[in-house]
Amino acid sequence: MNVKKAFEVCILVSLIAGAVICCRRKETHPVSANTAPEYVLTYAENQSEGHPTTQGAYRFAELVYEKTNGRIKIKVHPNAELGDEVSVIAQVRFGGIDFTRTSIMTVSDVVPQFNVLQLPYLYRSSEHMWKVLDGEIGQEFMSYLDDYDMKGLSWYDAGARNFYTVNRKITGVEDLKELKIRVAESNMMEVWISELGAEAVPLPFSEVYSALETGRIDGAENNWPSYISMSHNKVARYVTVDEHSRIPEMQVVSKSTWNQLSEEDREIIQECAQLSAEYERVLWNQQEKKSRERMERLGCIVTELSPEETEEFRSASEQIYEQFCGEYKDIIDRIAAVD
Ligand code: GCU
Repeated sequence: MNVKKAFEVCILVSLIAGAVICCRRKETHPVSANTAPEYVLTYAENQSEGHPTTQGAYRFAELVYEKTNGRIKIKVHPNAELGDEVSVIAQVRFGGIDFTRTSIMTVSDVVPQFNVLQLPYLYRSSEHMWKVLDGEIGQEFMSYLDDYDMKGLSWYDAGARNFYTVNRKITGVEDLKELKIRVAESNMMEVWISELGAEAVPLPFSEVYSALETGRIDGAENNWPSYISMSHNKVARYVTVDEHSRIPEMQVVSKSTWNQLSEEDREIIQECAQLSAEYERVLWNQQEKKSRERMERLGCIVTELSPEETEEFRSASEQIYEQFCGEYKDIIDRIAAVD
């Protein structure tokens, strides 16, 4: 082949290869091959890959990428790669991390009104909670973040929380006495557990498994999917279905990131956050049911509380309402009135 011919073949091969790459790209993202993202933003998530909230985060990132034609790329970091929730919230506030999905337990130490939403026995049911969060009260809570360098984007589901222990069956408040129970890093959770008679041990979520295994704590409390996905079931087999609280989670964006975005991009991000939340809620329902079945198959010892036993826990929790949320009584009453 002479030099001219070789050159022509080379050009032809490059053109075909280019066309194939363009087609592939088109299949996965409706984005032109040459689009370089204008923004590459970080998203912190402390749950593992398969958890509904992490799946929601990936869906959010995909939607934003598609709807901005590749101008905004969000890189999701699961497994607490960017730190525990307390430090992530601090970083979101000063703009070091752009987005996070967080439990509102840790938000409530920064934004005191949020203690209301994590009160034990606040909601009558999951439906009641969603009516509150999807309505005007939920919007008001979102807006409270504005004063703390953050913006709330959407509510994620995290089901109901139950106690689980290494070697004691819990059927009444008395059974918690002198047990070391892990709590999330939230002032209110710490005080509440102490008032129930246990020794509250605040720890980041990622440290709970080893603390149960080494005997640093005797038990913890969380929802079914987290109990299973973090393998807590392998070291704490006694589960009490007391459903003491429903603590929602939220997607949050740093105010400093938000302020840099155009009005059009803000609308897209807001819409994608809502769509990802709807997706997460569907996954949550599926996984909550599956985790419960799986847990029973794996030999966990499950105790259901009778209405009288539940009532004992509920009345032992009353004090915390006045202590942490005395000044928000009107909001609590409005929540109770939602039907
Ligand atoms: C839930 C929540 C986590 C949180 C954890 C905890 O599982 O999804 O984000 O860290 O509770 O108990 O700390």
